Amino acid sequence: MRRPMASYVLLLFMAVTMGSPSRRSAVDLDATPRTTIAYNELSGARRFSDQALNYTTLLLEDTRGTLYVGARGAIFALNSSNIADSSSRKLRWEASPEKQTDCLQKGKNNKTECFNHVRLLQRLNGTHLYACGTYAFHPLCAAIDTARFVLPSQLEEGKEKCPYDPARGYTGLIVDGGLYTATRYEFRSLPDIRRNLHQRPLKTEESPVHWLNDAEFVASVLVRESRRSPVGDDDKIYYFFMERAGEESASFGKSRAARVARVARVCKSDLGGKKILQRKWTSFLKARLVCYIPSYEALKAVHSLDGGGWPSTTFYAAFTLAAQWRSMEASAVCQYNISELHRAFDGPYMHYQDTSHKWTRYDGEVPEPRPGSCITNHSREAGYRSSQDLPNSVLEFVKLHPLMMEEVKPAQGQPLLVKKNVLYTALVVDRVTALDGRQYDVLFLGTGDGWLHKAVVIGSAVHIVEELQVFGAPQPVESLVISKAQRSVYVGAASGVLQLPLASCTRYGSCYDCILAQDPYCAWDGEGCREVASSADRAQLTQDVGHGKEGCWNGSAQAVPMQRSRTVLRGDDVLLPCEQRSNLARAAWLLNGSEGLPAGRGHFRVGVDGLLVTDTLLEHSGRYSCYGEENGLRSPLADYALRVLPVPPPEPAPTDPPPPRTARHASPDGKLVYILVIAVLGGLCLVLSAVLLHVACLQRRRGKYVLGAPTVELQTVSAGCLGAAREEEEEKHCREDGCLQIIPGEAPPAVSPARETPLGPPPPPPPPLPAEFTNGIASLPNMLRKMNGNSYVLLRQQEEPSPSPLSNTSFAEELSKILEKRKHTQLVDRLDESSV
Ligand SMILES: *[C@@H]1O[C@H](CO)[C@@H](O)[C@H](O)[C@H]1NC(C)=O
Ligand SMILES: *[C@@H]1O[C@H](CO)[C@@H](O)[C@H](O)[C@H]1NC(C)=O
Ligand SMILES: *[C@@H]1O[C@H](CO)[C@@H](O)[C@H](O)[C@H]1NC(C)=O
Ligand SMILES: *[C@@H]1O[C@H](CO)[C@@H](O)[C@H](O)[C@H]1NC(C)=O
Ligand SMILES: *[C@@H]1O[C@H](CO)[C@@H](O)[C@H](O)[C@H]1NC(C)=O
Ligand SMILES: *[C@@H]1O[C@H](CO)[C@@H](O)[C@H](O)[C@H]1NC(C)=O
Repeated sequence: MRRPMASYVLLLFMAVTMGSPSRRSAVDLDATPRTTIAYNELSGARRFSDQALNYTTLLLEDTRGTLYVGARGAIFALNSSNIADSSSRKLRWEASPEKQTDCLQKGKNNKTECFNHVRLLQRLNGTHLYACGTYAFHPLCAAIDTARFVLPSQLEEGKEKCPYDPARGYTGLIVDGGLYTATRYEFRSLPDIRRNLHQRPLKTEESPVHWLNDAEFVASVLVRESRRSPVGDDDKIYYFFMERAGEESASFGKSRAARVARVARVCKSDLGGKKILQRKWTSFLKARLVCYIPSYEALKAVHSLDGGGWPSTTFYAAFTLAAQWRSMEASAVCQYNISELHRAFDGPYMHYQDTSHKWTRYDGEVPEPRPGSCITNHSREAGYRSSQDLPNSVLEFVKLHPLMMEEVKPAQGQPLLVKKNVLYTALVVDRVTALDGRQYDVLFLGTGDGWLHKAVVIGSAVHIVEELQVFGAPQPVESLVISKAQRSVYVGAASGVLQLPLASCTRYGSCYDCILAQDPYCAWDGEGCREVASSADRAQLTQDVGHGKEGCWNGSAQAVPMQRSRTVLRGDDVLLPCEQRSNLARAAWLLNGSEGLPAGRGHFRVGVDGLLVTDTLLEHSGRYSCYGEENGLRSPLADYALRVLPVPPPEPAPTDPPPPRTARHASPDGKLVYILVIAVLGGLCLVLSAVLLHVACLQRRRGKYVLGAPTVELQTVSAGCLGAAREEEEEKHCREDGCLQIIPGEAPPAVSPARETPLGPPPPPPPPLPAEFTNGIASLPNMLRKMNGNSYVLLRQQEEPSPSPLSNTSFAEELSKILEKRKHTQLVDRLDESSV
């Protein structure tokens, strides 16, 4: 068992660190989100923010239709159906000036720490909420009447319930009136799991064995294991955290002092011991939580789901590579079943050997009733009605053996998802019944830079349906909650709260797009992609979450794109735009209905957003159809009729009036004007390019994922830098870019137009062409056409070169060659505008 595991880990480790996606295993070693939705393309988003900051603590009360938000210096009650509406209520709760002064005198950071950060918001009873805040390093708590929504006159001391430090890992729950919190409370104190607001407050033990070592808490989950329990078990609270490992790690060799992920649990009815473990938990046990990513994994977020009964409880956990690996970023998601947790807690214990200073497996005798277990029918029959009745031998044993031998392994024995270059910071899961009657878990994962990944678990893998940029300014997503009733996900972060629909099915424009997305919330109804939950007639709907293949065979679904015409002169370059909506799709082009472009001959370049035909020949005329190939499906995207015309003879045809102003026999005066104008335009070009570069670099994100396509993507072939009217259009192109590189075209402003003469006739008369006389470049800003020969090419460089065979030759090099060859770009709409 151990060996295949270890080799798997090694493989994963190599894949993650070397970044080689060539060897694929069951887990896609670097899942690619299918679609990328940038901030300005988000639809249906609602936002709430106020002068306050750090909207970190979310409490959703779906039945009351309220989302409570704990921020810095305030608590808000928002309408969960629309958090942006005017009905929001605010409760100001700032730290007093005296406490702030105290805090500053203690040398705390006056920008972040000396405020009242609300860290706990829980329902206390039918009328009151319970809230705790750091209050400038002097924590306070308050019971808040939700009807009046004002701060009570009487505040409670919070130092046993809430951390002093706003950034400290913390988790808190109110369960049946008792407050269960876990954190390192004071500046120097030891981490602790505590119960307050209870007639028997409890803590963890600190001697002779620290039950917790430098723990940073991530989450806590109540599991009602007493419900329909055949053994009369108790409800349990599970804690997820990181801590310093004392033991030698079983799977990764020596990693003492390394930090590991753990799960611990306590029983709700624990009352502590009578003499031994008095006011301490008698049911504390912890075990290692592994996800099998490289040994130093850091737990970031946990979410639990119970499928209608506690035995089917499952936990999803997001991990990142720990600090040691900061030079590279990667995240993973693992799933754990509660039965696996039970297996570890029911297994052998570890014990600390004073002589060797090591934690090793305990093989000695274990007293009865089993130490660390809850009080069950079995122990009641033996006369132990509560933890206070437990024999000393059991309590002594508990004191010394908090750690279990067995690790908690993920459900599939491996991560569900591994993602490079992303740090997941928050996680929430929804369970959706799809049209096929199966249940799919949909994960919403928040990233460290303000994005949200929506992913669906299919078998033992995860398909990332989309990535959404939910905050314009990069900032970690701090918290996520889902409302089934509102079909929304709420996102908390430093700058505000966001409400987003669970699905935006209308974004999928075709049946193929709708099916390929594998979005369990969406299905095709013959005309559009609809939200399943809001469709009256389910029989009309088609969906294939499991495979993302079936459902679009019939002609009606196959909307054939309108054919567009392109006409160019022989020797010109033409771009046939065809944008792939999906990052997983590969572009396929059919020429005259048959497969395969004669790619080897150097006239054709398939880019992510189109086909570039360079130096066209007469025989390149024909029908060009663009398809997106994804998951074995081929969906039509664009269709062009390309006509290549022979270059007309040098002398203007008698029927056409010769172009008046741009003839090469310009008078010396005319030449001077010509050069001057070009110089001015050149200057304008430079300024605009700088602006573009700046804008583009601000918005670095999109276009990161290109599978099987050239690494350098031809985004825009444009000489465009004329006129402010076009500026906007240009910027639109750049916004989607990665960092742009601008390569000047062939004719710098200083070059005299006379240089062109040997190459052919100067701007020949516009041949009598149909109105659509244009190549793909014409779909780009018009001014391009005016900047004869002074082209700029905007390159979109991927952040990471993908090891696609296509990219072996330097595409950049090729492009510069292409540029050199670019000859008659004199694409003329109207003669009088064509020349300078
Ligand atoms: C919340 O919004 C919904 C719909 O906009 C509205 O019907 C409801 O009355 C609002 N609730 C409150 C408490 O304002
Ligand atoms: C915080 O402290 C810095 C340096 O001590 C000071 O310059 C700044 O004005 C202070 N800010 C506030 C809000 O007090
Ligand atoms: C809820 O708790 C608050 C604070 O302890 C108390 O004043 C109030 O009476 C309680 N309400 C109910 C309905 O028990
Ligand atoms: C609060 O927000 C500020 C501003 O974005 C950020 O610098 C700080 O780290 C946040 N503090 C916490 C505790 O999240
Ligand atoms: C698709 O076409 C097949 C036969 O070609 C037919 O049996 C089936 O009912 C059609 N499906 C839909 C959804 O129209
Ligand atoms: C495509 O078909 C047209 C007319 O049927 C033909 O003139 C053209 O040469 C064909 N193009 C190619 C590249 O085969």
